[in-house]
Amino acid sequence: MPNSGATTTTDEVLDGIDLSGRRILVTGAASGLGKESARALAAHGASVTVLARSPARAAGAVADIAGLVPGADLEEGVVDLADLSTVRAFARGFLDTHDSVDVLINNAGVMACPFGRTADGFEMQFGTNHLGHFLLTVLLSPALLEGPAPRVVTLSSAGHSRSDVDLDDPNFETTEYSPWVAYGRSKTANALFARELARRAGGRGLRSFSVHPGGIITDLGRHLTDELINEMAAFAQERARRTGSGDTGDSGITWKSIEAGAATQVWATVAPELADHNGAYLADCGLGVLGANPGVNGFMPYLLDDDHAAVLWELSEHLVGMKFEV
Ligand SMILES: NC(=O)c1ccc[n+]([C@@H]2O[C@H](COP(=O)([O-])OP(=O)(O)OC[C@H]3O[C@@H](n4cnc5c(N)ncnc54)[C@H](OP(=O)(O)O)[C@@H]3O)[C@@H](O)[C@H]2O)c1
Repeated sequence: MPNSGATTTTDEVLDGIDLSGRRILVTGAASGLGKESARALAAHGASVTVLARSPARAAGAVADIAGLVPGADLEEGVVDLADLSTVRAFARGFLDTHDSVDVLINNAGVMACPFGRTADGFEMQFGTNHLGHFLLTVLLSPALLEGPAPRVVTLSSAGHSRSDVDLDDPNFETTEYSPWVAYGRSKTANALFARELARRAGGRGLRSFSVHPGGIITDLGRHLTDELINEMAAFAQERARRTGSGDTGDSGITWKSIEAGAATQVWATVAPELADHNGAYLADCGLGVLGANPGVNGFMPYLLDDDHAAVLWELSEHLVGMKFEV
């Protein structure tokens, strides 16, 4: 794993790599890690589809990236993951005009928002972070499976360590809502999804990974109140003390730059050495470590629960009303 490290940047991961002729889709590409991933991949020759939740957000991101990467091959698309009708509309239009996709980066996310429901009635974080990406991936799978070595990269988070999925009450109908527990559940769902996708489509050559990017100051924190920040810091500090690694300082988080934060998802997109690790959870441009501090590069045992992953998959098919055919 030659690029391993917490400070490795996107451009360092991609040094010497030519992505010409490869079509890569990035959700949530109007800001933060998604925008930096789109920029870096385009700068190395990829044809990038910049997805955002509104035409203005998508056009703004394309203009910004084109300014940074003259000659970049960019197109834009509108996907509001909190409204599955827009996911279906985008996928229909995309499949009408493209035969194949090389990589889908399921990057968009919402964190610790107040209780809300998506247009389809799902709890906002589970619906946006997991179900929206689940449906997008299923709908694009025919194009992904056309490619020679397709990959799906899905952003999880150290936040998965707040909670396993709740397969009986995924939408907080009977459980009292907690913004951090809901984020944790959704990020565990992202990792279980990546693992189950690898199991189901690995035989067709598809590689699927989940990623913890590290702690990076972005717009993701837009919903955080002082109370939520203090709750997160106490949890992260306790996690660091318990595992004997990581930051026990004020926030309990060692912050990365955006370029270093986006590096692991870019690495997951291109690294040939990952081909033998289908379904893996990644952090710091390396494989995640079971039992180590999730705030650094560790992950919880429940990310390896294949029974949960299979049940979550069937539940997700039921909720979005679409089956995955390989
Ligand atoms: N930053 C961190 O420390 C950190 C740590 C662990 C994991 N992550 C994960 O990394 C990913 C990227 O986060 P970030 O830090 O780059 O945050 P960010 O700057 O807020 O980016 C998230 C993106 O997701 C988009 N998004 C949110 N809801 C959406 C919806 N319903 N439909 C379509 N797009 C939607 C946002 O669009 P708008 O701006 O238009 O709302 C935004 O462009 C997330 O999945 C996050 O959970 C981040």
